[in-house]
Amino acid sequence: MSTLDVRSTAPLLRTATEPAAPPPFDFDVAIVGLGYVGLPTALAYRASGSRVLAVDASPRRLRIIAARGADLIDSDRERLEAALRTPREFRLTSDASELTRAAAIIVCVPTPVDHQQVPDLAPLRAACATVVAAARPGQLIMLTSTTYVGCTHDLVEQPLRERGLDVGRDVFVTFSAERIDPGNVGFAQEVVPRVVGGATARCQEEGVRLLSRYAARVHPVSSLATAEMTKLLENTFRAVNIALANEFADICGALDVPVTEVIEAASTKPYGFMAFYPGPGVGGHCIPCDPHYLLWQLKALHVDAGVITEAMTRIAARPRRVVDRVRDVLGRAGKGTLGARVLIVGVTYKPDVADLRESPALEIIDGLLDAGAEVQYVDTHAPHIHLDSGRERDSLADPAGFHPDVVLVHTRHHDCDLNWLDGEAVVLDGTYRSSDIAGRVLL
Ligand SMILES: NC(=O)c1ccc[n+]([C@@H]2O[C@H](COP(=O)([O-])OP(=O)(O)OC[C@H]3O[C@@H](n4cnc5c(N)ncnc54)[C@H](O)[C@@H]3O)[C@@H](O)[C@H]2O)c1
Repeated sequence: MSTLDVRSTAPLLRTATEPAAPPPFDFDVAIVGLGYVGLPTALAYRASGSRVLAVDASPRRLRIIAARGADLIDSDRERLEAALRTPREFRLTSDASELTRAAAIIVCVPTPVDHQQVPDLAPLRAACATVVAAARPGQLIMLTSTTYVGCTHDLVEQPLRERGLDVGRDVFVTFSAERIDPGNVGFAQEVVPRVVGGATARCQEEGVRLLSRYAARVHPVSSLATAEMTKLLENTFRAVNIALANEFADICGALDVPVTEVIEAASTKPYGFMAFYPGPGVGGHCIPCDPHYLLWQLKALHVDAGVITEAMTRIAARPRRVVDRVRDVLGRAGKGTLGARVLIVGVTYKPDVADLRESPALEIIDGLLDAGAEVQYVDTHAPHIHLDSGRERDSLADPAGFHPDVVLVHTRHHDCDLNWLDGEAVVLDGTYRSSDIAGRVLL
């Protein structure tokens, strides 16, 4: 099926069997889970004129949102201000029983993995059970959390049928993975096309209608499973290519070729190449986790996925390689790791967000501390960090006063100030793109 430019087409016609009267719902859409994905989604719907019920199981999260303390880009901050001024049309609640008041329910709860890289489906199971229990005729339910193939069927469609609801007539079930890139001001949520699959043709149609309230384009696919797999392909593609970029960085290092220049040169090819850059590892809630939802499912089915498995193994090992590289750099400077002073610049997993989830910096800092180094960090977006080891650190107010032996540039926010660098320390460029730092050494 082709991509629909739904903003420029007339509304889809309803079938003759559908009641003419508008459904008695107080809200057009409920968003379940108001995190990095759900909150901007709720704000996008509100900005498009929808009445939004914003639901989160965590009262603390709701307080942070109400106090304007959520990590948002500037345009979403403005949207939040506007939304909070219209409490009848933008209601924050932790009371899931209110879900019966919404015509459509969008589920955006976390889908992490545990320490063994096994999917942790507990939040999604809990949210789906709540939504299914509250479901009433006329509602549309849409999962947007990244998950395994068949999940929407297992956790929503089937339980609704078991409740006696006729999916495709009484209630509508869809999957449309969120593609938002938090912190990225270059791609507003509205301009990124959405892929949607439905349990039936009518479900798909309703899913297109819901998304088209704010999304510029909606691309319907033939099934829930196709939509679920599309997201897994997107993020597995990124993971495999990042692993390849890291490997090329190491190869270029061995052959003394500048890897960034190579990537930029290859990018001049207008087809068949897409630039991915090496780094100190991957973080966040997507690339380190999503491919494991696929691998977990394939393992149970005894389906081989050697390329993906190897890429994820390499990705997981990257922070340890960074620790080894710091030791190497110290050794070349005639110093041991024991007692060496190492400063990490930027600890969030990517620039301009406060998100520390799965950030490679955390493992790198623990690894260096285990090796006996004295480690501090500086990051305007993360004033305090908790490490897996139980250690804690505060961002340094005066990095120059620390007199580091090695500075590892891990993440560079746009407001990152490196003017204090005095040429004394070795600067290890984990971004590979900090060419403005004189004398930097690549990771
Ligand atoms: N963060 C990203 O960059 C990104 C991008 C695209 C897709 N995704 C996917 O979107 C989904 C959500 O990710 P996120 O980063 O927004 O997560 P998050 O951790 O930032 O937020 C999730 C929110 O859901 C709430 N929650 C948990 N269980 C709940 C329940 N049962 N009922 C109501 N609320 C509940 C939590 O309190 C939290 O506020 C994941 O599947 C993720 O893979 C994330």
